Amino acid sequence: MILLTGGSGRLGSALRALLPEVAAPGRAELDVTLPEQIERALDTVQPKAVVHTAAYTNVAKAETERGLCWAVNVEGTRNLVRALGPRGLPLIHISTDYVFYGDTGRYREEDPVGPVRNYYALSKLVAEELVRILPKHLVIRTSFRERPWPYPSAYTDLYTSQDYLDRIAPDVALAVSHFDQIPFTTLHIATERKSAYDLAKETRPDVRPASRTESPVALPEDISLEVSRWQALKEEMKGA
Ligand SMILES: NC(=O)c1ccc[n+]([C@@H]2O[C@H](COP(=O)([O-])OP(=O)(O)OC[C@H]3O[C@@H](n4cnc5c(N)ncnc54)[C@H](OP(=O)(O)O)[C@@H]3O)[C@@H](O)[C@H]2O)c1
Repeated sequence: MILLTGGSGRLGSALRALLPEVAAPGRAELDVTLPEQIERALDTVQPKAVVHTAAYTNVAKAETERGLCWAVNVEGTRNLVRALGPRGLPLIHISTDYVFYGDTGRYREEDPVGPVRNYYALSKLVAEELVRILPKHLVIRTSFRERPWPYPSAYTDLYTSQDYLDRIAPDVALAVSHFDQIPFTTLHIATERKSAYDLAKETRPDVRPASRTESPVALPEDISLEVSRWQALKEEMKGA
């Protein structure tokens, strides 16, 4: 059995549907900011691993709701790490491309992270480093959008390897299912580099071209991830 945090979220809901044996208590039962609820969930579910998708994810609002963002993303992750360490359980942690600065793009798993562009990214970067304290962990950096493109405009000057959730979630589920066979502690799960506008046009042909400079929060110009490690692993997993 796998214990999933954030099962009502976008990625969490998709993973619930894709993973065969998963327990996903809602936030009312498993609030990651409350250590006693984490202990209770671990005692009840007795999982073989935890997949941590729960997060404060509103990038723009995080600039003004810093306390809440930090409490969920950093303290919540720290609470999980503290609970899993003594139990010897692995943590599969969902992270973001935003841990990179985002000027050169094509970031590899081992490239230096930061400096980050916004507060959400800072909280996710600190969370990653907390997860690395655990002997058994996997940090999955990804990025996804709902289908169809959920906004009226899309940036022509922001390059990304994000993709639609229905392409990303099955890959994350595949990695979770084969966690024991993954000989790395960081994995980029995304697709080819393209502009956000090109991705948007695929599902919303009338999307308005826009510039990332219109965003109220600082955004990178090229946050694309190098995904060859995952592509090779995926071929191996599918062939096995
Ligand atoms: N969306 C993206 O493009 C993107 C890109 C890169 C990385 N990520 C990462 O992928 C993961 C999933 O993102 P998402 O877009 O699917 O998120 P989402 O739709 O915003 O869902 C977030 C989930 O976290 C839960 N949550 C929030 N605070 C919590 C708490 N204190 N305790 C327990 N659960 C809590 C929410 O529960 P409620 O429903 O009760 O609020 C919800 O289930 C996150 O770690 C995010 O940082 C997302």
